[in-house]
Amino acid sequence: MKGIIFTEFLTMVEKEFSMDMVDTIIEKSNVSSKGAYTAVGTYSHQEMNLLVQALSAETNIKPENLLVAFGRYLFQTLSTAYPHFVNNAKDVLDFLSSIENYIHIEVRKLYPDAELPKFQSSYLSATQLELIYTSERHYGALAEGLILGALDFYHKEGNLEKEVLENKSVKFTISLNG
Ligand code: HEM
Repeated sequence: MKGIIFTEFLTMVEKEFSMDMVDTIIEKSNVSSKGAYTAVGTYSHQEMNLLVQALSAETNIKPENLLVAFGRYLFQTLSTAYPHFVNNAKDVLDFLSSIENYIHIEVRKLYPDAELPKFQSSYLSATQLELIYTSERHYGALAEGLILGALDFYHKEGNLEKEVLENKSVKFTISLNG
């Protein structure tokens, strides 16, 4: 997992909790990098799981809810860092349907060792998109937060439903209001 994801996670922890909380979770999770992440470095995604578990133990917030909140936060950073990705799309559903064949393809060019999930998308109607997330790393909750972040970004009110299909896949249905 790329360092940018870790540095953003720790920045969110600092903003939402405190710098002491950042130090506490790095210490208690016993991660081998000791929290010294660089944006372009690559680290095991297990380190992310350990940091999230440590934060969950300190805050009594479920790991899944922490990942959703992180995804929502992360979208703001990614959309600021890569404005052309979000500005090229005509609306939020167009954007979400382009992750697999455009966004993450561009990400792979920037970071050849990125570990990216797979997305299959299909329009159910002009205002409803089905997006199936598949990844060995089981970050469906992170994907959920990123979708919510995208809805925030495009100022769209919508309903997000999710269904866990099997171990590695989650089906999201995004329905826009009006
Ligand atoms: C501006 C838009 C986006 C950019 C620049 C971007 C970039 C990235 C990057 C750099 C990673 C890390 C890869 C690694 O650590 O090796 C990543 C992973 C991931 N992305 Fe995206 N992404 C974007 C939008 C989205 C959206 C909207 C979703 C959800 C629908 C999404 C879902 C994920 C997930 C869940 C992962 C974690 C890896 C996994 O689950 O296997 N991304 N993305």
